[in-house]
Amino acid sequence: MDDLRDKYIGLIAAADSEAALEDLRVQAVGKKGEISLKMRELGKMSPEERQVAGPALNALKDEINSALAAKKAALEDAALDERLRGEWLDVTLPGRTRRMGTIHPISQVTEEVTAIFADMGFSVAEGPQIDTDWYNFDALNIPGHHPARAEMDTFYMHRAEGDNRPPHVLRTHTSPVQIRSMEKTGAPIRVIAPGRVYRADYDQTHTPMFHQVEGLAIDKDISMANLKWVLEEFVKAYFEVDDVELRFRASHFPFTEPSAEVDIRCSWEGGSLKVGEGDDWLEILGSGMVHPKVLQNAGVNPDEWQGFAFGMGIDRIAMLKYGIPDLRAFFDSDLRWLRHYGFAALDVPTLHGGLSG
Ligand code: DAH
Repeated sequence: MDDLRDKYIGLIAAADSEAALEDLRVQAVGKKGEISLKMRELGKMSPEERQVAGPALNALKDEINSALAAKKAALEDAALDERLRGEWLDVTLPGRTRRMGTIHPISQVTEEVTAIFADMGFSVAEGPQIDTDWYNFDALNIPGHHPARAEMDTFYMHRAEGDNRPPHVLRTHTSPVQIRSMEKTGAPIRVIAPGRVYRADYDQTHTPMFHQVEGLAIDKDISMANLKWVLEEFVKAYFEVDDVELRFRASHFPFTEPSAEVDIRCSWEGGSLKVGEGDDWLEILGSGMVHPKVLQNAGVNPDEWQGFAFGMGIDRIAMLKYGIPDLRAFFDSDLRWLRHYGFAALDVPTLHGGLSG
């Protein structure tokens, strides 16, 4: 029995794999293993012999089983150590930069505008890009015969014969979101509505699809002075300068009374656009006091409530801030252009962190 013991304890210690260990287990304590065969011989012994050999064999079996288990655990530990050594990684190495694409200037500017107006208490509203001619025109005090309808170069949705739903258009401006927002929440209200708009127009500063942001502030005593202050604050924050020269020009829109268009001083010298200097003016927005009929059409009582609205071209102010001379390039999907004018994906514009990084 001592020989058996020495033999197996030695073999187990020398085993170098779990497979080898399993072979040893079968050889020693398997059904037909050496120890098991010895146990079968107990039957042939005298009771005295059996009393000595039985417990000794059992003890040997236990000893071999625990040696097998201990060796198995040791082999597993060694395998894990080996793997950890192989998969070691230096987390202090600098990361590998990978090109991930860029944020389009329109998205960037939309985020910047949103951050600035959010800081002044405006929340973001949305409306559909395909809307009825009622929301796009009538509710905004632009009746069927009004020249503004023709001027806007509207895209009308195709209507099958016999379709008697109201005519739908690709919205020509974000102003219909004024109506939808007031219908939804009533007054007081303070929202901006950025989004895509469409007009059949195409040259260096016009594309058939472009972007506007609408603003609307209605309360008991909101005046033109509030409008002027909000726009000046916006322009300073947006262009990240202490002073920008604005020009308020009396104008006319069917949905505001009085109305003003706002231009910003700029120069086009050398083909690049600069803000705050030069002798040129670029129109960036239309604005005014919301017409009582518009309030009424949206279910807001004009005897109780008043306020201002404005609509600004996002593409225009993106061109101005980032010196982009041709609007059409925005929508060419030219990767070289995007790498040049685009923004890093993880630089989210905030007022506290700096709008444009
Ligand atoms: N909707 C006008 C446009 O697309 C812009 C505009 C002018 C919006 C005056 C307004 C406003 O809210 O008050 O040209």
